[in-house]
Amino acid sequence: MCGIFAYSGQKKSAGDLVIRGLKKLEYRGYDSWGIAYSENQKIGLLRKVGKIGEFDLENTALPQSTLAIGHSRWATHGGVTEENAHPHVDAQKMFAIVHNGIIENYKELRDELQRKGYTFKSETDTETIVHLIADYAKENTFVTATKMAIKRLKGRFAILAIKADEQKIIAARRGSPLILGVGENEFFIASDIPAFINHTKKVMYIDDDEMVVVNEKPHFYNIHSGEEIEKRVVEINWEPQSAEKGAFEHFMIKEIMEQKDTIYRAINQKDSEILHLADEIKKAYGTFLIGCGTAGKVCHAASYLFSKVAKRHVNVIVGSEFPSQQDFLKEKSLVIAVSQSGETADTLEAIEVAKTKGSKVLSIINVEGSSMDRMSDYAIHIKAGPEKAVASTKATTSQLAILTMLAYACDNRLTEGKRLLIDTAGEINDMLNPRYEKHIRALAEKIKDFESMYVIGKAVNYPIALEAAIKLQEVSYIHAEGFAGGELKHGPIALISDGTPCIAIVANDETRTDILNNAMEVKSRGGFIIGVSPQNEDVFDQWIKVPDAGNASPIVNIIPIQLLAYHLAVLRQNNPDMPRNLAKSVTVK
Ligand code: F6R
Repeated sequence: MCGIFAYSGQKKSAGDLVIRGLKKLEYRGYDSWGIAYSENQKIGLLRKVGKIGEFDLENTALPQSTLAIGHSRWATHGGVTEENAHPHVDAQKMFAIVHNGIIENYKELRDELQRKGYTFKSETDTETIVHLIADYAKENTFVTATKMAIKRLKGRFAILAIKADEQKIIAARRGSPLILGVGENEFFIASDIPAFINHTKKVMYIDDDEMVVVNEKPHFYNIHSGEEIEKRVVEINWEPQSAEKGAFEHFMIKEIMEQKDTIYRAINQKDSEILHLADEIKKAYGTFLIGCGTAGKVCHAASYLFSKVAKRHVNVIVGSEFPSQQDFLKEKSLVIAVSQSGETADTLEAIEVAKTKGSKVLSIINVEGSSMDRMSDYAIHIKAGPEKAVASTKATTSQLAILTMLAYACDNRLTEGKRLLIDTAGEINDMLNPRYEKHIRALAEKIKDFESMYVIGKAVNYPIALEAAIKLQEVSYIHAEGFAGGELKHGPIALISDGTPCIAIVANDETRTDILNNAMEVKSRGGFIIGVSPQNEDVFDQWIKVPDAGNASPIVNIIPIQLLAYHLAVLRQNNPDMPRNLAKSVTVK
């Protein structure tokens, strides 16, 4: 949530570089943006409401500067206005700040600063930080003043600060992502690696409660003790083009299509490690699967897989609800955190609780080096490559693949599980052809003007129905809801009227008869049934064929619905990569 990008080096086009970097981070927040640079011993500011992607950089002359910081905003405190857009500056325009996260004690700090005569121009929590630095800087150096200000902040944050007359960026973080990219006599700081991967693959991770002063050489400090910390430069192995759209119109369709090979990549893990983690699950006094949004639905689906494949009970709790159930966690419990970004605040909080209780943590994540990766006892990287569309697609199916593999491993059938997933990956490759996409687009044309639609599923495909509804809601903005097929008759069936589209996810297993009966109940009340199933059925008005994937059915069933959501979004003239009100990587609670 909120994208941060900064440059310090010898190039005089820092502003230009920062805007280009922010454009790559726009998926993290896109209601307003801004940059700050040093110009004639003062801070220069450029701030705009709207998407940075729409800014015509080619035809805009930016002032020359070797240092700049920038921010693409997802509003938390204060409306979407130019005054609330970051960076924020002090009255003398000597200091500038960008910030991602929430400063919990900002009211108290703001009151204190107002009593001292500072005036505020925005409604943000961020502005307090810049005045606090300016206040401490009356009697201290920029570095000391920033250290003192940061020490006073409560909450989660990633912050960058600059001073107009110093070639220096100070970065600090607690709970929000921030990574330092190390080039040849130049540095980049960003919320996410893909933003600077075209400049350098060398990174230094900034950990929680750390601050780094970047000038000729970066110096890391612990925020609390002030002690200097030794850091390593790590070389990352992503290719720059994996973070680009290439020939595709949107990242979402590119990422859906990448599922032709992301499942293979996900399951390409060392057997010994998977078996070891399966052992940890078997030994644990309670396993808790935790995730938010789509990742939460993956956890929910996995609970059915563990039950069916491994005859093992696992608990599922969505990240934001975890605090109310944390008392069930014991020292010997295992928390499995599922997350694409590895930065979701609610999931991170659950991990923090688990660690204080002495429970072990296994993270299943996409972003290597993310907070979850670094905080967990064990990590499985799903290796899906950068996922830039806000709506999660390829990460979802890769997470499902990993959890399916773990369920099989818990039943000492890892090889069988892997075989199933390899076969499924092959079937997905065949399925995702242009004819298939055309068929789904034609269906999208047919239903694009409906105001509501429903998705039903049973057993492991019930959470997939819930996930399908999330996909449809977030990019098409059609009111979509997912239900367990058997629940309809207990109330929701009253929502069905003539022609209402209802997707029935029908797996070729013991649930088939029941879910077909539920679909028939909907059809009898006028519903238009779209069946997602390996075979056509009488009750279907429209059939979307999927491979018969046995216990991997959740993986194949969600893919056509991702495609449907994408085409509905495009036909309804929505931007599927940047849906309204949302942002990738939810780093606030
Ligand atoms: C929906 C979506 C979100 C995320 C959720 C958790 O398509 O992407 O619901 O799944 O915000 O994010 P991660 O997986 O990064 O923890």
